[in-house]
Amino acid sequence: MIKTIRGLSVSGTLVLIAALLSPASSAVSAEQKTAKGSDLEQGKKLAFSRKKGNCLACHMIKDGVSPGNIAPPLLMMKSRFPDKKVLRAQIWDASKRNPETAMPLFGKYEVLTGDELDKVVDFIYSL
Ligand code: HEC
Repeated sequence: MIKTIRGLSVSGTLVLIAALLSPASSAVSAEQKTAKGSDLEQGKKLAFSRKKGNCLACHMIKDGVSPGNIAPPLLMMKSRFPDKKVLRAQIWDASKRNPETAMPLFGKYEVLTGDELDKVVDFIYSL
């Protein structure tokens, strides 16, 4: 009988610990969301920067000022690129899909590093 009571109190303690831990774990996921958000911000900066992506020279992108229009507007990307890898490949080396492309070969010619390209892809994929 005493053993059962002990068992109960142990599981009671575990429930208490779990309850104490759960606000902490939701705080962690909130932090992760912020980190993700700032990655998107960085991706946006890289995409809009004239010295880096300069995507606005040719593409219309939400929030972008005086965009060019020689290329398709970048919107609803998830429905146009269900596979994110295909989108990344397009931005890495647009000549694969169109050998005559006017789009700079960002990855192939190292205009953007792999890490910068990932951030740009994340941002474009959020549009
Ligand atoms: C000098 C002009 C130019 C710049 C700068 C440019 N692109 Fe492009 N992009 C194009 C053209 C033109 C196309 C149309 C397909 C083709 O001709 O390759 C295209 C196509 C695309 C596509 C495929 C769109 C679709 O619906 O098929 C994506 C995605 C894309 N560009 C992303 C980007 C991103 C991201 C940047 C900036 C990092 C960028 N482009 C910079 C000219 C440009």
